[in-house]
Amino acid sequence: YPDKLIDQFGRQVDYIRLSITDRCDFRCTYCMAEEMTFLPRDEVLSLEECFRLVKAFVQLGVTKVRITGGEPLVRKNALWLFEEVGKLEKLKELVLTTNGSQLEKQAIGLKQAGVKRINISLDSLNSERFKKITRTGELDKVLRGIQAAKQAGFDNIKLNTVLMRGTNDDEAEALVDFAIKQAIDISFIEEMPLGEVDHTRESTFVSNAETLKTLQNKYALTASTVSTGGPARYWRVADSNTKIGFISPHSHNFCEACNRVRITCKGELFLCLGQEDKVDLMPLLRNHPNDDQPLIQAILDSMSIKPKGHDFDLQRAKPAVVRFMSHTGG
Ligand code: GTP
Ligand code: 5AD
Ligand code: SF4
Repeated sequence: YPDKLIDQFGRQVDYIRLSITDRCDFRCTYCMAEEMTFLPRDEVLSLEECFRLVKAFVQLGVTKVRITGGEPLVRKNALWLFEEVGKLEKLKELVLTTNGSQLEKQAIGLKQAGVKRINISLDSLNSERFKKITRTGELDKVLRGIQAAKQAGFDNIKLNTVLMRGTNDDEAEALVDFAIKQAIDISFIEEMPLGEVDHTRESTFVSNAETLKTLQNKYALTASTVSTGGPARYWRVADSNTKIGFISPHSHNFCEACNRVRITCKGELFLCLGQEDKVDLMPLLRNHPNDDQPLIQAILDSMSIKPKGHDFDLQRAKPAVVRFMSHTGG
């Protein structure tokens, strides 16, 4: 087999985002509807199947694996998967995106398993607001989770914040102050139209151009050239260890340099966050338990249908992408 995945536009895919569960203990308003039904267990990949998938991708040149959800750490025995993936020699980076609620219990295990970096969602430092945004989340637990991750030795934690008009759009500075105090990074993410939620996203949209302007009034920021291989553009905050990232799919399209694909907990390989193009890998796993060839061939073939980019449009009455963010893992 070739040891590289190259798509029809010549982009190399060396990064996979694997969602290991659609379940979450939070119900963030931009991510989920109030009432969500979760998948029955037999429709979800087993952790062994997840591992088999990761190994196949690593064989094809993938060097970065991000485990996502839903909330990945609510999956029973999730740690086993981190431990196994962490042992893969050719893998350079095993990373995690989490809401932080389980870190108090799991941070040490994750560190020992070889997780390199953790991204933690944090949209407010006010517990009432936090509750309003996450519906079921508890701010204190997440703050304790952040401390636990620091104590476990994670020194490159990044916060992820989605600002929404009328809810938390006045908190950019407070959140940056918090990040500076904790000597960690923070990224602002523009809300994306995935799945039908309870508000129109156009009405709550806050652009990163606006957020950057607000922050420049308070901090001395210098544009940085660092990249984590993700879509964020970073700015350094003078006299601190903090970088501020901006993930701006609406104003700054980063599709041209896209290096990733996503796998849902059902084994669907989505070739773009903002499009429906996909390949079902679950049947290939289940019908060929001892033969990876059909699986590998399907992954190689999928490169010919990876779209050029997303076409998010907040003005559309209904989102073009009907699946929820929690299915694709962001
Ligand atoms: P690192 O750069 O490795 O730290 O990761 P990241 O920022 O890509 O990962 P994270 O899981 O923290 O995601 C932050 C946000 O970026 C999420 O809302 C993702 O949906 C978004 N994101 C990541 N990749 C893409 C992409 O290819 N397209 C779009 N539109 N958004 C993305
Ligand atoms: N738009 C932008 N970001 C979102 N996230 C979840 N749903 C959305 C959305 N509709 C973010 C979460 C988490 C990351 C993985 O994705 O806040 O930090
Ligand atoms: Fe859960 Fe993350 Fe979605 Fe919030 S954004 S509901 S924490 S999966």
